[in-house]
This record gives sequence, structure tokens and C-alpha cells, in this order.
Amino acid sequence: MDSWLLGIDIGTSACKAIAVDRQGNVTAKALVGYPVVSLQPGWAEQDPAHWWDAAQRAVEQVLAALPDRRAIEGIGLSGQMHGLTPLDENGEVLRPAILWCDQRAAPQCDDITARAGGLEGLLRLVQNRMLPGFTAGKLLWMREHEPALFARMRHMLNPKDYLRYRLTGEFVTDVSDASGTGLFDVRNRTWSAPLLSLLDLPRSLLPDVVESSERTGTLLPELAERWGVPAHTPVFGGGGDSVIQTTSMGVIDRGTLGVTLGTAGIVAAGGRECPVPDGSLQISCGNAPGRWHVMGVTLSAGGAFEWLRNALVQFDRERALPSYAALVELARSTGAGAAGLLFLPYLLGERCPHVSGNGRGAWIGLTTLHTGAHLVRSTMEGVLLNLRSIASLCATAGLGGRELRASGGATSEPFWLQLLADVQQCEVSTVTGSAEGGAYGAVLAAGVGSGRWASLDEAVGCLRVVSRHQPDRSLGPLYDARFATFRGLYDTLRQTFEQIALEPPVTPPRGDSKALRPV
Ligand code: XUL
Repeated sequence: MDSWLLGIDIGTSACKAIAVDRQGNVTAKALVGYPVVSLQPGWAEQDPAHWWDAAQRAVEQVLAALPDRRAIEGIGLSGQMHGLTPLDENGEVLRPAILWCDQRAAPQCDDITARAGGLEGLLRLVQNRMLPGFTAGKLLWMREHEPALFARMRHMLNPKDYLRYRLTGEFVTDVSDASGTGLFDVRNRTWSAPLLSLLDLPRSLLPDVVESSERTGTLLPELAERWGVPAHTPVFGGGGDSVIQTTSMGVIDRGTLGVTLGTAGIVAAGGRECPVPDGSLQISCGNAPGRWHVMGVTLSAGGAFEWLRNALVQFDRERALPSYAALVELARSTGAGAAGLLFLPYLLGERCPHVSGNGRGAWIGLTTLHTGAHLVRSTMEGVLLNLRSIASLCATAGLGGRELRASGGATSEPFWLQLLADVQQCEVSTVTGSAEGGAYGAVLAAGVGSGRWASLDEAVGCLRVVSRHQPDRSLGPLYDARFATFRGLYDTLRQTFEQIALEPPVTPPRGDSKALRPV
């Protein structure tokens, strides 16, 4: 008799639900989208009601596709990290959630760093630099700019934990998502009491914290009844998407790097000790006790490609959006190195390898010889060269080896995987479940909690390699040269970016907020 674990991921553009059988196969899946709203340049918000609505619809679709919905073993959660979801004393949402890619809180982050005694002091308390994407700066922004709403706030939740609250009525997060708030002592896996006190934030605002495989309550009776699943279906801790997506690739130790090519791009590794922090990479608790996770996050990876697709169509409004496959074909039609054209993907500012809200995108080296195909190819290569910069930061920290594991939306296109192998000059593999990302990782963690697997090591041991791409060694010298030039460009342009940032902000035309939308 088979049974299923449900995995639910609250992504930035959609909620994904999957059901995974005892052999690790995805029996059913559903995706329900929602918008990101950007009221000002650099802002990104979302209505938590959309998450809840999308999650219910996705779960209902998945359950309808299963042979027996009474054989649900449990539910695992994953979600976009760092999003501030403020709730009042009745659990009502006070304002739209402020998302991971929102840059408004940069001044508050500087303030937090100063209060902690500078970067060194901060790294001692929470092992991370205070990035504007993190939740802490957003809390202070709200206290400063929306004091009446802030005064009514009783709970602060991350996106997947808001979903947990709607599923179970519990205010709980897990250690990996807590790590991305900027208020968590990652080394000791507990809220940082000293930082909370320096910032004058009450502990009561924050949820309880569990490990990713711990049970955090059961499905509310009316939901279990409505969905026809067992009463007392357990909901497990889960994880922040970027961390648990790395876990879903089986990357839980130092030797292999996991690359996620989603809207954002992530290069990550796991490990059995908390690394010594220097602020260049994000450090989080991993999805099992005694495990940590290190990552560099670039804000525009697949998002840059999506931006290009949207921008290109404006040249010919009569035509439909080109498919991703058509764009990839165009890129493939031109040679490696895009005839000398380089693309900097800092369309949303950047977090890693450069910490800069003022970073901007750019094409460098344009000539009349370049065609649309070169624009597309250089965009893909620019995204991957940027990931190579992060991979070399990881190498400096002693992370990674000869193999890369890849996952994320873009990896359904084999050309991205081949290009990744060529730019990095190492083998790139994908494993079962890679395409499902955070939702699959949430299932692995939930399966450890439900007793399906004895440990996370055993759970990831079930993953099977489904594709391998070998680098074309003849391209090594070319991509080494491209990388050397690419790496220097940010510093060359830094002052220009800062100058541009000082100029008056350009407000997008009404109704065109999508142009700024992180996709
Ligand atoms: C991780 C991060 C993003 C979000 C959205 O630090 O900011 O990857 O989790 O996926």
C-alpha cells in the first residue's frame, strides 16, 4: 500500500505542491501563480492572502490526482526566505509582505550593523552581514515608517510559516528560515538575545524555532475534513527555499557545490560545522541538526533571462513572447563567448559576489557586428560568469570540488546545463526531484520526521542522478579569459553605478510595475 508526503513551496511567482510516493517519485504536482507588486523602484511586496489561496488550490489539484488521498503521511513546507509577514494579535495580516528582493531597508541595515559594533560585532552575533533582503531591516523600516501598524504587530512570520499558521494555527519557523531573518544566532541555533536587545525588539514577536524534520502541529480539523486527508496529518518544520533546495539536490556536505538557477541564482554547499564568517557568503543552519549551509545569492539569474524576453517583445508588440526554447536556440546558434560581448546581470542591485543595492545591469563591448543572438547568449553567459565568481568565493572558503549539482527552472533546458559545465569547466549533474526544488527538499525533511527515512543522509541517499553534462575542455581558455575580464568590470563601473543611483529615481509609467518585477 503506497503513501504520499506532500511538499508545498511558497515561491516568489507561484506556489508549488507535489505528492511524493515511498519510492521518491513525484506522483502529482500543481503550480498556482500570483503577482509581485512593486510600488516604488527597489520595492517588492506580495499579498499573503494570495499565498494561502494558491496553496489551497495547488493542494486540492494534487490530492485530486492521487489514487488515495487518505494515504497522506505528512506535509513539508518550503518558501521564499526573508519575507516580512506582520500579523496582529488575531493573526490578521497587517500589511503586504515585504519580500527578499526588496531593497528599501538598506539604511536600517547600516543602523543595525552600527548598533552591533560594526560588521565584526554583527558576525559574532548572527554570523551574517545584515543584507537589505533580510527580515531585520524591514522590521526597523516598519517601525520608522509605519509606526501605527508596527505598534499593532504581535507576530512576524516568514512566507512558508504564514502558510503553516493557516494550516495548523501554530506560530513556528525552522532553523534554516530563521537564519535568514538576521536575528538568529546561526552557530548556536537560537534567536540572538543580545541583538534583539540592542535593537529593542521583543522576543515575543518571533516564532518558536524547530529543526527541519520536527513536527510542528497537525492540520486543522476543518482542513483535514475538507481535503479528505487523515485527521491529525502532521506538518513538519521544512526550510527556507534556498537552503532546502540545496538539500533536495543531495548537497549536504562541503565537497559538492549546488547551483540553483531560478529567478535568483544560488551557489551553495553544506557542512558539519558552522564556518568562520567573513560576511562574503550567507551562513544558515542546515536541514538536519548539526548541519550548516553556506551560500552566495545573486539576485538576477533566470530573472535576467526573463527580463530579456519581456524586453525583446516590446520591439514588436504584435508578436507573442518568444518561448524560452526559442531564445535558447538563438543563443546556441552563435559561438561561445558571444563574439566578445559581456553582460552584467545586476538588474536588481546585487547581494553576492558584490554587496550593492546600487549595482546595475550592463552590456559591455557592443559593436555593429552583434546581433540579437549575441544579446541572448551574452545574457546567459553573464549570469553564469557571475555564478562562477560566487563559486570561486566558495572555493576560497574551502567549499566545493570537482562536481556541480544543478537545479531550478532553467535546468529543464539542457543547454543551460551544458553552458554551466563549460563556463565552470566541471561536470554538472542533476538528480531526481531537481526540477521540483524546495518542495522536494521539504518532502525529504518531512520524510525524516515521519520515519520514512532514518536520517537526512539516508533520505538524500535515495536520489538518483538523471543527467550529466561534461565540460567542453577546448572552451576552457576562452571562458577563463572571459571570466578574468568579467570579474574586473564591477569595480571599473562601481563609481558610475553609484553616480546613477544619486540621480532622481525614474518612476515607471502607471500599470508598468511589472517592468521592475523580480520574476
Ligand atoms: C535567499 C534568497 C532567495 C529567496 C527567494 O537568501 O533571498 O533565494 O529565498 O527564493
